[in-house]
Amino acid sequence: MFTEKFAVIGHPIEHSKSPVIHQAFASQFGKSISYEKLLSPLDGFSETLNRLHLEGYRGVNITVPFKFEAYEASHTLSDRATAAGAVNTLSFKDQQIIGDNTDGCGLVNDILKHWHRTIEGKQILLLGAGGAAQGVILPLLAQKPALLTVANRSLDKARTMVERFEAGAKSNQVKLAVQTFDNLAENYDIVINATSAGLQAEALPIKDVVFAHHTLAYDMMYGRETPFMQQARAAEAQVADGLGMLVEQAAEAFYIWHGLRPDTASVIQSFRQT
Ligand code: ATR
Repeated sequence: MFTEKFAVIGHPIEHSKSPVIHQAFASQFGKSISYEKLLSPLDGFSETLNRLHLEGYRGVNITVPFKFEAYEASHTLSDRATAAGAVNTLSFKDQQIIGDNTDGCGLVNDILKHWHRTIEGKQILLLGAGGAAQGVILPLLAQKPALLTVANRSLDKARTMVERFEAGAKSNQVKLAVQTFDNLAENYDIVINATSAGLQAEALPIKDVVFAHHTLAYDMMYGRETPFMQQARAAEAQVADGLGMLVEQAAEAFYIWHGLRPDTASVIQSFRQT
């Protein structure tokens, strides 16, 4: 039987759960695939990509720090990849490299399906204005929240990022705002941490007032309890980590490559149990 080849490319890559997730999805459909972790040299991403293309790989996922290089390497981009300015899923079709970004869709699907929240009509706070934040804005706007406030340490960076999304906010009738952390003074239905502060175990200077009892406080990181999560938990908000987003972004990539929608709840549950 012909086995289709896939991989995830990053640096570092050892920690990646993508092979396990994609193999779990494939087994739900009785499909046989190969899916490897590939450590690319930091200055050798395009050579790594070209090699996989020549060797007949069907597609690759891209993780830190190559999402922008993957965007640049794509011959065609989906709207969500263009809006994100980054690519996490590549498909090889004949001579073409097609770039997509499933991160924002993964976040939204996790919130809707596994945390049972709606975004439509709600007040959403997005913390951060780097690549991770930019990657999720378009799918969040498409859910038509009443308000999307972007707060960042550097207000200028938040302003510059938000400018790209003004047309999308208008067409979805979303009020789009920017704010510094210090000036946040009301509670939100959903607070999403897309900063990288948790990597250094650093707290964000946000006040407890942003968290109400009904708030879902969502950290896009997984595998550790960040200071953001600790603060939200102490303020009695409901707390989510990024594990479901990871599985849901993989499910969307699986759909792009195979045209099949895997069951994600069982895969998330199996990770939570280990
Ligand atoms: P990523 O791709 O993970 O988003 P990035 O593009 O470097 O990484 O962006 C990191 C984000 O986390 C930025 O919003 C950054 O704030 P600044 O734009 O002000 O630099 C934010 N960030 C990182 N460490 C932080 C900290 N200790 N406190 C507050 N914000 C932090």
